[in-house]
Amino acid sequence: MERENFGTRFGVLVAMAGSAIGLGNLWRFPYLVGSYGGAAFVFVYIICVFILCLPILFSEVIIGRRSSSNAFGAYRKLAPGTKWKWLGVLSIVTPLIIVSYYSVVGGWGVEYFFKAAMFEFTTGVTRSELGSMFSKFTSSVWAPLMGHSIFLLLTAFIVISGVKSGIEKFGKIMMPLLFVLIIVIAVRAVTLPGAAEGLKYLFSPDFSKIDASVCSAALGQAFFSLSLGMGTMLTYGSYISKKENLAASSTYTAVSDTLFALLASCAIMPAVFAFGLNPQEGPSLVFETLPFIFSNMPMGGIVAILFFLALIVAALTSSISLYEVVVAYLVEEKQYTRRGASILVFIVAWVLGALCSLSFGPLSSFKIFGQTIFNLFDKLSANILMPVGGLLLVIFAGWVMKKDDVISEFTNGGTLKCNRKISGFVYFMIRYICPLIVIAVFASSLIF
Ligand code: PHE
Repeated sequence: MERENFGTRFGVLVAMAGSAIGLGNLWRFPYLVGSYGGAAFVFVYIICVFILCLPILFSEVIIGRRSSSNAFGAYRKLAPGTKWKWLGVLSIVTPLIIVSYYSVVGGWGVEYFFKAAMFEFTTGVTRSELGSMFSKFTSSVWAPLMGHSIFLLLTAFIVISGVKSGIEKFGKIMMPLLFVLIIVIAVRAVTLPGAAEGLKYLFSPDFSKIDASVCSAALGQAFFSLSLGMGTMLTYGSYISKKENLAASSTYTAVSDTLFALLASCAIMPAVFAFGLNPQEGPSLVFETLPFIFSNMPMGGIVAILFFLALIVAALTSSISLYEVVVAYLVEEKQYTRRGASILVFIVAWVLGALCSLSFGPLSSFKIFGQTIFNLFDKLSANILMPVGGLLLVIFAGWVMKKDDVISEFTNGGTLKCNRKISGFVYFMIRYICPLIVIAVFASSLIF
């Protein structure tokens, strides 16, 4: 069967950037910035993205395009008959776990979008009322399951439509819209009286705050935000035509992802400071603190609608990339039809996600290794499966694949002059520096 490819260069970029830009930027990054001391975290994060993670992103896309295969098939094809097939297995299981809990949080976004659309955040509710609104909502049974189901259905619907007419088309319309939305919201936030303090918090680093825990949180976030180490960028890489410049698409992806994370922080932190609130709220920042801000700021009702719309769109373009990894595997390795594969993934992800969702309510006392199911999935994937997957994949690119193949993929057979100039340095990073630093940071996060 003929494999589908992305149709245009812009299509490749919006698909890759769409995968990267998601809840990680709008929800996780701002609260991590708050929890880890502001600009110092931002500074370390940017270094992690461009020095360490970009070569890993190159490697992942190279493995995908070289093999023209799904995440499981890629390792089997490039290293037949070896244990590397287990990395393939990991690359299918991790996205399945992530898409299930990701769609629970996406579902919260759906619920909050409806709340915003009914102007529930404009009635002058208090901060503590919003806190109990959120915990009451997440600990109930049906409302969050409903959001989870809607979100997962939308994801399945786009993936069923195919690589070109589903994923690429959706990205082409939604990614520009997303940037417009976040810029409008950021402009509103930075023009609030008292916003300057928030900008200072974001952009004027106090280097003494940098320690091992800041570094490991920043690296983990960079992995998560660039969708690394779990077969998504590999699968998208396999849909990129041989003529495309992989290094350029990957670099644009990293730039737009970072820009978006910074814009999202500009949309949130200045407002948090303008209202004298605490930036160290943790995961509830977006669902408790922000609605409070919306309910108190001029035009807040509209901004709230735009914000949660942006959250849903950003989350969808990421969840389709996770979903696609498993669908591509089932279609190519297990001879499913695209529709059949999408339905099967829907069922499995729905059940796993439902367990995550219920772990805030009826299943909250059910713990595995002392963690609720949601926390277990979150910690297991972000702190263990993704870094391990990322580490193994750079080792694969740097030590198992032939150097000539890697360089040839990076330079399109030597025809891209700029890429040729930096290829030696990039290969050195892939082979030595990236694995060493990932191991160091990973080890330090286990110790601290
Ligand atoms: N990068 C996405 C985000 O920032 C999350 C994601 C992780 C998507 C891994 C795909 C794979 O929200």
